[in-house]
Amino acid sequence: MPATQTAYRTLKVSPQPGGFAAEVTGVDLSRPLDPAVLAEVKDAFARHAVLAFPGQPLTLDQLEAFTLQIGPFGDDPYVAPMEGHPNVLEVRREPDEKVTPFGGNWHSDWSFQSQPPAATILRSEIIPPVGGDTLYCDAAAAYDALSDEMKARLAPLKAIHSASRAYGPNSAYSRELSLRAMPIIVSPEAEKTFVHPLVRTHPVSGRKALFISPVYTVGIEGMAPNDADPLLGELYKHLVQDRFVYRHQWQAGMLVMWDNRCTMHNALGGYDGHRRVMHRTTVAGETPV
Ligand code: SIN
Repeated sequence: MPATQTAYRTLKVSPQPGGFAAEVTGVDLSRPLDPAVLAEVKDAFARHAVLAFPGQPLTLDQLEAFTLQIGPFGDDPYVAPMEGHPNVLEVRREPDEKVTPFGGNWHSDWSFQSQPPAATILRSEIIPPVGGDTLYCDAAAAYDALSDEMKARLAPLKAIHSASRAYGPNSAYSRELSLRAMPIIVSPEAEKTFVHPLVRTHPVSGRKALFISPVYTVGIEGMAPNDADPLLGELYKHLVQDRFVYRHQWQAGMLVMWDNRCTMHNALGGYDGHRRVMHRTTVAGETPV
């Protein structure tokens, strides 16, 4: 996707070099958006997959109202929501926490669901003075860059997704519950698996993207682990090359919306001794095809 400025009537959309991720100004997300403005936001989202809106100090009610303009809420199974806000999660890390940040490995949100969320919306409340960046990987560009032979090999494959590594009874989070400020829910339900196409097609842009992640993809249907694991490992190495990754630096009161259908993300640490607080919603998605 070219990094050129598309002509918008109201928004100023400034893409990163390469066109993956863009900063958006010229809009106040705290109020209901005029349909034409909302259409521009959705257009920019389909083009750039990660949109960062600086200077949007929304209340929780406003965050919910903005989310509902993008689409209905998704279902957030393994983190207890904020009191009085059943669709908002607080992503919080306290100054004395030593464990990996929540979301601190490459993943696409809740890809283990039958209909994983189309989008995640994260609004920063307290940002540490150092660290706490979020990496985003362009899984559509990564797909495009594969050889024709690899594309043909992947075309019929289905990946197996599960929340077990993160939220199952033997997961990393299960061993660290008392060390975290976040109300993470560990459950045997997390052992369930869902199968999705390894390459999915974006319902709006029509682009194909790799739809796998080291956190939630636990195998490939019909393939022995000895064959699936090296293939997945090769694809992860390919996906997270610098040329496909955008590193997002937060400011307080910034809202970022990302497309889980064509990206992975990874929350970085580097801010021990400081608090980081974000508020997060998800937008329901469709069955991946
Ligand atoms: C997440 O994976 O939702 C967390 C992202 C972040 O805190 O930057």
